[in-house]
Amino acid sequence: MLIAANWKMYKGRRETREFLEHFEPPAGVDVVICPSFTSLAAAVETGRTIYAQNVHWENQGAYTGEVSPEMLVELGVAGSIVGHSERRQYFGETDETTAKRAEAALAAGLGVIACVGETEEQREAGEMEDVLRRQVGVLPRHDRLVIAYEPVWAIGTGKNATPEMCHHAHSFIKSLTDVQVLYGGSVKPDNAAALLSQSSVDGALVGGASLDVDSFTAICRAAIPS
Ligand code: 13P
Repeated sequence: MLIAANWKMYKGRRETREFLEHFEPPAGVDVVICPSFTSLAAAVETGRTIYAQNVHWENQGAYTGEVSPEMLVELGVAGSIVGHSERRQYFGETDETTAKRAEAALAAGLGVIACVGETEEQREAGEMEDVLRRQVGVLPRHDRLVIAYEPVWAIGTGKNATPEMCHHAHSFIKSLTDVQVLYGGSVKPDNAAALLSQSSVDGALVGGASLDVDSFTAICRAAIPS
């Protein structure tokens, strides 16, 4: 089981250090923390497994505001999220740029958590499988790539997918490619066990509930097979 914390644009260096001083990952679960770029170095110093939240596809060049795979490797960062729906929604990320980021990160030796997921509109129009087929179809196949299924309507809304909806989407993704699939979208201590107990769920990508040590620890504990 892999439990990843996506801190989005929360926690600068000081809060990152504070969290990691107090957080003890439970044995039996792989934990990845994804802080903001400015907090990566402080996080890496703690010896934990740290991923970035995004990565560019070139190793250097005139790309203002971007960070390259080699820069992350040099810092001791172990991987990166790519294609998060907030990147797609607010920053023009597409299936193609997501795939390019994933390929470059893998080529540099990084791990990748590639995010996919349908919007509410797409789900209601019965397009979930088409959307997932398209988003998953462009991604490289690699043993260091995992997919996070994050239905957009469940992110930050408190509306999580039911374990059955989650199982259906994960099984569909696994029918397309042999890959580990994390679930993301309003994962909380009180719903984590039910979601993680699905056979098709290989872990979670946690936003809001990963910002607090106690709630994130509780979610990590829910991932330990009993
Ligand atoms: P929430 O857990 O806050 O819904 O965010 C999910 C997410 O976007 C993780 O990448």
